[in-house]
Amino acid sequence: MTKNNFPHLIDLDNYPVSSWDSITNLAIDIKRNPHIYVGACNGKIMGTLFYEPSTRTQMSFQSAMLRLGGGIIGFDNPANSSVAKGESIMDTTKIASSYSDILVMRHPLEGSVKAAALTADCPVINAGDGGHLHPTQTLTDLLTLKAEKGTLSGLTVGFCGDLKNGRTVHSLLKALCCYENNKFVLISTDELKVPTYIKNRISASGKEYTEVRSLEEAIPSLDVLYMTRIQRERFGSEEEYNSQKHIFCLDKKKMNAARKDMIVLHPLPRVDEIAVEVDDDPRALYFKQANYGMYVRMSLVLSVLNENIKTKPLLTGAVMPKVCCHNPKCITNFEQSLPHSFHNHGGVLECEYCDERLLLE
Ligand code: NCD
Repeated sequence: MTKNNFPHLIDLDNYPVSSWDSITNLAIDIKRNPHIYVGACNGKIMGTLFYEPSTRTQMSFQSAMLRLGGGIIGFDNPANSSVAKGESIMDTTKIASSYSDILVMRHPLEGSVKAAALTADCPVINAGDGGHLHPTQTLTDLLTLKAEKGTLSGLTVGFCGDLKNGRTVHSLLKALCCYENNKFVLISTDELKVPTYIKNRISASGKEYTEVRSLEEAIPSLDVLYMTRIQRERFGSEEEYNSQKHIFCLDKKKMNAARKDMIVLHPLPRVDEIAVEVDDDPRALYFKQANYGMYVRMSLVLSVLNENIKTKPLLTGAVMPKVCCHNPKCITNFEQSLPHSFHNHGGVLECEYCDERLLLE
């Protein structure tokens, strides 16, 4: 089914770590010398397919392409496209990719962007697939850490909030496992803990993590605090969401207990998990972080269009037509034509689209 070898970015794992570094380094150069890059994508078109709300990701990609001299097509409300007539994701993206040189896509189903890439006629960038992954936010976060902390290694990073559904958390944790001597403090309620497959990944990389419930207790030990929103749209019911909202709030008092050089990041949007009074603290870098996002996306678009990145095939596991993924939000349970593909870890199957694990019967 995969007929192409485009440098799709579905998961940062698709690219070698050396290319994450070259993308963030190029972003630093673009930020310093923007005039050099004006017109670098003249005549190129970016298609943006946003099936879910977005402010920063969508606008920073669009601004990136316009600053590079390229053009933009796409939709941010699928109700205004043929999706409303029942068109499949695969068909929509196949057509949109034939009109574009690069496609950027966000969708509520997990594994959906990988599925789209299987039949696309140009590189596809994952701008968020449900509660699964968000690799371009991670490039933004890596650039922010590099520029503001001067390193991606030896950091104690606290993640606080909805660690279960927060796709930015999953992608960033996986990425930080690839650098030396990082430690993680996972701050959440029992209901919103980091998924097991991510914890397995941390352990396999030899990194340490602890799971705690109290932000107050964790904060003094941190170099970086990554706050996140409780992902209301991913909950099964309003009651479940109500039982989890307003639990964590970073305020001035808690900041007083933090190190003088701790930085606060947040992918944004925030709801109430960071009090507005924290915004004036020089350690609060979330707005600056959003700005770095535009430069990293300029760098990513340039690198992808110049074919500077070598990638692996999208599906490398075993196709098992009769086995169905147990994750009700996995794309394979919605688009019938997709090959059901799994990696076998000693009798435990891992879905190649959404990473859900199931026991082989
Ligand atoms: C995040 C997302 O969409 O996952 N936002 C973003 O892209 N900057 C985080 C969120 O929505 O909470």
